[in-house]
Order: sequence, then structure tokens, then C-alpha cells
Amino acid sequence: MSITAVVLAAGKGTRMKSSVPKVLHPVCGLPMISHVINNLKEAGVERIIVVVGPEGQGIREMLGSEVEYVLQAEQLGTGHAVLQTEPLLRNRVSTLLVTYGDTPLYRAETLRRLIKVHQETQASATALSVFLDNPTGYGRIIRDAEGVFCKVVEEKDAAPEEAAVKEINSGTYVFQSEPLFAALHQLSPKNAQQEYYLTDVLEIIKKQSGRIEIFTHDDCEEVLGINNRVQLAAAEKILRNRIREKWMLAGVTMMDPDTTYIDAQAELEPDVVLMPFTFIEGRTRIASGSVIGPFARLRDCVVGENVTIDHATALESAFEPGCTVGPYTYIRPGCRVAEKAKVGGFCEIKNTTVGPGSKVPHLSYLGDTTVGSGVNIGAGTITCNYDGQKKHRTEIEDGAFVGSNCNLVAPVKVRAGAYVAAGSTITEDVPSGALGIARNRQRNILGWVERRLQKRSSQEEG
Ligand code: UD1
Ligand code: CA
Repeated sequence: MSITAVVLAAGKGTRMKSSVPKVLHPVCGLPMISHVINNLKEAGVERIIVVVGPEGQGIREMLGSEVEYVLQAEQLGTGHAVLQTEPLLRNRVSTLLVTYGDTPLYRAETLRRLIKVHQETQASATALSVFLDNPTGYGRIIRDAEGVFCKVVEEKDAAPEEAAVKEINSGTYVFQSEPLFAALHQLSPKNAQQEYYLTDVLEIIKKQSGRIEIFTHDDCEEVLGINNRVQLAAAEKILRNRIREKWMLAGVTMMDPDTTYIDAQAELEPDVVLMPFTFIEGRTRIASGSVIGPFARLRDCVVGENVTIDHATALESAFEPGCTVGPYTYIRPGCRVAEKAKVGGFCEIKNTTVGPGSKVPHLSYLGDTTVGSGVNIGAGTITCNYDGQKKHRTEIEDGAFVGSNCNLVAPVKVRAGAYVAAGSTITEDVPSGALGIARNRQRNILGWVERRLQKRSSQEEG
């Protein structure tokens, strides 16, 4: 049976105290609502409708056309939010999963089980609950003496004995659409928050002799709802742990998992080694045999096999098999470090290709540069790529040798096999096979030290 899901994301997220909509705050590098959407898809949900508020533009831009949108013009509560989907869904779909955009930690398997319970019991509505040692902030599941479900009570409306209940409403439900929409029309905002609570539909459906099923789940981490930054950090920690375990079980070595941070979208091959204090961010992919860290941060990088990256920050760049980077090196966006190339200690490169087997071993800055294969760049050499207004390219062709401490003033080319003498400031192209030398010839003034000492002592006497 095909399942349609409604994700509520129109709330103001006041408790986040942020100018960014709550559901766009990232958890392990991915906006929390994207986790919700991915989990739903993985659970087999085919159609997803996201309820957004007037400030939902950012959400629409981020999720694009992979989901449909319904506007909730005024934030009158979670029940009111679901009611906005009525024109789109009532009489059109029979079974509806409803969840919130601020609960990103469900496993797809749990959602699948919830749907299965709903279908097998033929309930009108099935809600997911868990028991929490500290239920603060959640709606409580109230049952009668026989343990039969009565209603959900929001914390702000709860009598003390209700607040003491540790079984909470996780906020994910499966409904038969007809009784759901009928009940939504009967909601009243007579409660502490003066909102139309979605949670009240369960009691209404039950009173109209619908069957309510409560699926009590045993993993209390999955249902964490993010209302503030403390909960955001808690979610980050839980997800980070899951991601680490997934990759370790898939063959990745982590010397110290506690200081290894991997974003949700990263991909690692078996026999990758992550050393302590390492951050694998965004869509970074790392191939087998590579050793990353200690103290490395890679964002949106593609790393081939047997690469070493030590004490470095690397952004939006590619590292081909067997290359080495670091320590203390900054690889800015748009770089390609080719096979067996080296970008060594205290270097910064930007929008630069370092060709196969080439070496930039120490203390260099290369910006907007193409380095061919088998090139050696001496210590302290920099490209002067910026004239104050525009950026220009430097090309250093195959087999060239650039001595230490040179300035290559772009646009400029060092042709194949050319040499550049140490300490040169190169402003013109160096032809193939030539030596480019651009510095004053050294002069040795013989006896100068002796004469200076004599001059000084005669001054002191006089
Ligand atoms: C809600 C539940 C509570 C449950 C908890 C689980 C209600 C009334 N309460 O409380 O029982 O234990 O989630 O995490 O449903 N939203 C809208 N439009 C609105 C209001 C909210 O789209 O008018 C969206 C929010 O963006 C959010 C979600 O609904 O993603 C939940 O709203 P929130 O205010 O966070 O509800 P809780 O107080 O956490
Ligand atoms: Ca919430």
C-alpha cells in the first residue's frame, strides 16, 4: 500500500532563538528536515507533503521539488497545520503518516514497523510512544486503569499526576485520512497554548469509536524532538555516534572515535584510517588505504586510495591516489592534488592543480596555478595571483624546477623543463629549457667588517 506523509515544519521555532528556521539547523552536516525526509523515503513513503509557514522560503529552496508544499499562513498549532493539507489529501489518500520536521532521529525501520502495526491492527490512528526517564517537554500518553489509551496531554496542560507519566507521545502517527480530517475540524484551542493540537485528534477519534493503537518503542533516543540548542547538541551526539558505528562496522579504523566527527553524507571505504581530532564534513568521499589526521578537516573532498592528509584543512578539493598533504596545510576550494604529488608543511593552495608526482614541500602559497607533472617548487615560493583587482593564473609546466623563495607574478608561465633561480621575482614567461633568474648579482665587499669595527672604536675614543 502506498503511504503519503505529512511533515510539519511551519512552526516558528522560538525556543531556538535563531534567525534560521528551526528545521534548517544542521545535524551532522545535514538540515534536520532532510534527515526526516530521507528516513521517510527509506521507509518506503512515496509522497511527502511539507507544511511550511510564510518564512518557509529557505525550506522550499533547500528541499526543491523532491517534496510538495502546503502553506500554513498562521501558526495556530500542529492540528491546524495538518488541516491545511485537507484540499490536497482528503478523499484522495487513505493512509497518512504524520511527523514533525524537528524529530530527525527515527530509523527507517521504526517507521516501517509503525506503518505495519497500523495496517495489521486496522486502527483508525496509530501513535508511537516511548518511556523517558525525563519526559519534560513532551506530550504524555494518558491511559486508564486497564492501560487503555485515553488521550495525549501536553505538558503545559498536564495535571501533576499526568505530568508524572513517563510514557510520551513521540509525534509520529499513522492515520486513516477520513477520521483524521473529520476530527481536525472538531479541534478547539482551549488549552494553555491556545493552539489547535494535533494530539487532541486521538481522543476525538477514540470517542467516535475509532480504534487507537499505541506502538510503544524501546529506543528512546530515536524520538528526540529538537526545540532548543541543548536538544540540537544532544541529537548531534546521538547521530554522530550512529554514523561512527556504521563506518567502523563497514571496515573503517578510528583510533579515537570520540574525537572523530563524520557528517551524515560522507562516504568511506574499508581500510580508511581516521586519526584523532578529524572532521569529515559534507559529501566527502575517502577511498581505501587513506590515512586522515590527526587534526584534519575535510569538507566536500574526494580522496583517492592511499592518500595521507595530516594536520590540514581541505575544502572542495580532490586528492588522487598516493598523494600526501601536510602537516599544517590549508587546501582551499578548487584544488586537485594529483597522483603521488605532495603538498607539504605550512603550505596554502587555492584553485590549483598540482600535477602527478610534483612537489610543493614547504612554506608555499599557490593560487590559481597549474603545476604540471614532476615539478619541484622550492621552499617559500609563492604565486602573486592578485593585482589588487583581478586574479591571474600561473602555469608551471612539466618537469620545471622553481628554486626556493621565488615570487611568480601572474599571469606568467614557466615552460616545460625550465629552471627558476632561487630568490627570483619572475614577471615574464621562462622559455622551455631556460634558466629564469631575476635578482641582483651578489657583490662581496672584501675587508668590510674589519673596517667597520675600526671606524666604531675610533668614534668611541673621539
Ligand atoms: C509536539 C507534540 C507533543 C510531542 C512532541 C514530540 C503537539 C501539540 N504536541 O510538541 O505531544 O510530545 O511534539 O516532539 O503536537 N508546527 C507547525 N505549525 C504550527 C505549530 C508547529 O507546522 O502551528 C510544526 C513545527 O515546525 C514542528 C512541529 O510542528 O516541526 C512540532 O511543533 P512543536 O512546537 O515543536 O511541538 P512540541 O511542543 O515539541
Ligand atoms: Ca518539537
